[in-house]
Amino acid sequence: MKNYLSIKDIDDLPGWVQEAKQLKKNPTAHKDMGSGKTVCLLFFNNSLRTRLSTQKAAMNLGMEVMVMNFGNEGWALEYGDGTIMDSGTSEHIKEAAKVVSQYCDIVAIRAFATLKDKEKDEAEEVLNGFKNYASVPIVNMESSVGHPLQALADAITISENNIKKRPKIVLSWAPHPKALPHAVANSFVEMMRLQDAEFVITHPEGYDLNTSLTKGLTIENDQKKACEDADFIYVKNWSNYSDYGKVVLQDPKWMMTEDTLGDAKFMHCLPVRRNVVVADAVLDGGQSLVIEQANNRTYAAQIVLKKLLEN
Ligand code: CP
Repeated sequence: MKNYLSIKDIDDLPGWVQEAKQLKKNPTAHKDMGSGKTVCLLFFNNSLRTRLSTQKAAMNLGMEVMVMNFGNEGWALEYGDGTIMDSGTSEHIKEAAKVVSQYCDIVAIRAFATLKDKEKDEAEEVLNGFKNYASVPIVNMESSVGHPLQALADAITISENNIKKRPKIVLSWAPHPKALPHAVANSFVEMMRLQDAEFVITHPEGYDLNTSLTKGLTIENDQKKACEDADFIYVKNWSNYSDYGKVVLQDPKWMMTEDTLGDAKFMHCLPVRRNVVVADAVLDGGQSLVIEQANNRTYAAQIVLKKLLEN
């Protein structure tokens, strides 16, 4: 593996999940592997879990870690080819990526969708800019269209809690006051295609995800019906995709409640808005896996860094 940019970079999901579960039993087993190596974490957006779990994963492997909040501390970057840089941007990605590559062995990047321009977001100019011009491997810590470290942690969590050969797993849209990107849902959908499961996506009409990702999958607009007899329900808001980045519905009936959850395990990537996305009783109840999902972010990041170091 040269880079970890999307779920497509996972060549054997069950194998990676098993290896991550082994790492979890003895996180510092490969402490020598990263000795003398450095990972540079570049954040163009806020984070709690991704920043600390990726840092912890690198430390478990014996790596040094450098962190930069690029969004408010770095020079504003230019991505266009041949641009006359006489406006707001100070440095071109061509120099920035090459310079950063000299200071570290792996670069990890978080750069969310702007939700203003679908075409520009889907071009992934930050992630692909670093991929194109850096001379070291790149890790996606959530880009415009994907959050593959989160989806890998979710696969580990499902594996640890699943007792069925073929569980029913539901991805449910939830209301949210702010416009949120599609990245977590997209990567979860891509990851589910690699799982042996009955997978159902539920959202209000008009809230379809990118149909090139959901083609052929079961989509049910009746949340209660979709969630019947589910083993795992993954709840996530995303903004409108066709009316790109708009919040056109905040129907509180879509909030996850104990009644809708039934006997299923509750999953969410966090951070989550209590009593908007999910009721307190669900989040505080015994069926919630959210803290374990966050814990597994460390082992998801660690398996990715380990595979890049092995390369
Ligand atoms: N789930 C997740 O990526 O959390 P942070 O945004 O806090 O990193």
